[in-house]
Amino acid sequence: MEKMVILGGAKLSGEVEISGAKNSAVAILAASILVKGKCIIDNVPHVSDIDVLLDIIQGLGGSAYFIDKGTVEIDCTNLNKYEADYETVRRIRASSYLMGALLGRFSRARVGMPGGCDFGVRPIDQHIKGFKTLGAEVEVDHGFVDLRADKLVGDSVYLDVVSVGATINIMLAATMAEGLTVIESAAKEPHIVDVANFLNCMGANIKGAGTDVIKIRGVKELHGGEFSVIPDQIEAGTFMIAAAATHGDVTITNIIPKHMESLSAKLEEMGVIVEEYDDAIRIHMDDRNLKSANVKTQPYPGFPTDLQPQILTLLTVAKGTSLVTENVWDNRFKYVDELNRMGAKVSVDGRVAAVEGCEHLQGSPVYATDLRAGAALVIAGLMAKGVTEIYNLKYIDRGYENLELKLKSLGAQIARRTVDDNKSNAV
Ligand code: EPZ
Repeated sequence: MEKMVILGGAKLSGEVEISGAKNSAVAILAASILVKGKCIIDNVPHVSDIDVLLDIIQGLGGSAYFIDKGTVEIDCTNLNKYEADYETVRRIRASSYLMGALLGRFSRARVGMPGGCDFGVRPIDQHIKGFKTLGAEVEVDHGFVDLRADKLVGDSVYLDVVSVGATINIMLAATMAEGLTVIESAAKEPHIVDVANFLNCMGANIKGAGTDVIKIRGVKELHGGEFSVIPDQIEAGTFMIAAAATHGDVTITNIIPKHMESLSAKLEEMGVIVEEYDDAIRIHMDDRNLKSANVKTQPYPGFPTDLQPQILTLLTVAKGTSLVTENVWDNRFKYVDELNRMGAKVSVDGRVAAVEGCEHLQGSPVYATDLRAGAALVIAGLMAKGVTEIYNLKYIDRGYENLELKLKSLGAQIARRTVDDNKSNAV
């Protein structure tokens, strides 16, 4: 087992390049299952969720490998199975996309219930509603979702909940269905647009991605091609918050500033200087106190739930009391106990956390409870006094490429150690 050791207090400064979006890349790799032909996909972050998905696709008979840094070659022409390995599927949430992709490819899919971070109940009823609307029979038994259709036929699907996963999954199943599928109340996250752009590049006919009505006219076949994944909005946001947390001066490159608007506005409200460029943002914070602010997570273009733990961590040292309301997941405050262990004053009541600003956090051993909570603890460690040790790094490794190397290049005192290497916590 490994731990991350951070000596807090260093102001981050310099330039950092953001990797490709993990949540987009996992959906695009799954979408490649629909393609008969070779796809070259660039700007793919090398994180463990991607490795798991590549394993799953290989297990289905496809060929899927990193051929260079950030570049995956994937060819699913000879894919010959519609049942994915149960144990592997349970390791990542994105395996839910196998349902839509395999159903679209074979009119048949058998996939274990997807895993992923634990934020309470993670239902898939909207995915199932969509598949049924397209003509599939769906059975859920013994941890498997079994889908079969004589043929898929387009129709209108109205989502009762704005769901990223259901929107992408229905899009995948509908890409080669007969006729027109209309998804109403669709999610609008940047990676939904990215998946639609990928499919369109390979010959699909999808219009309206990025709005709440997406129209998919089924095509007979998709062909191979090349595509580049968008930059990771959440990784970029994590670095923006880390820069502000250490009163640093950091330019975050290879990003789409438009995707960052809700965070940029919130940071400015807290007194942080945010300068936007074409494909970069500079974050600058002097030695003044941060101001408190209220944050409510919402589907895009609202404040992203995947940046909620990081912004809450920043608010622990802001002057005054802040309220953070989690509107997407019913249980995404598990990490708060860890922050409180570091001296934060946060109390949670249902979906609302009250954050009373304190002078500073104190370094301590803490445990990541999920991917973004892990990133939040790294930010806490960077701004705390003394040494913070973070355990459960497997969560952070699911979604951040070279996190500590990138932070180190900005001047952070951070290192990874094996846990029995107890001799020293020196960084
Ligand atoms: C995606 O999860 C992301 N994961 C999550 O990021 C992110 O938190 C989430 O979208 C919201 O933005 C990936 O892209 C792989 P949803 P997803 O379906 O698709 C409810 C990270 O940290 N719902 O949009 O699983 C659900 O309970 C991860 O990178 C239903 O009720 O999320 C939740 O309350 C964690 N029925 C809300 O919708 C359904 O059938 C949004 O979920 C589906 C969802």
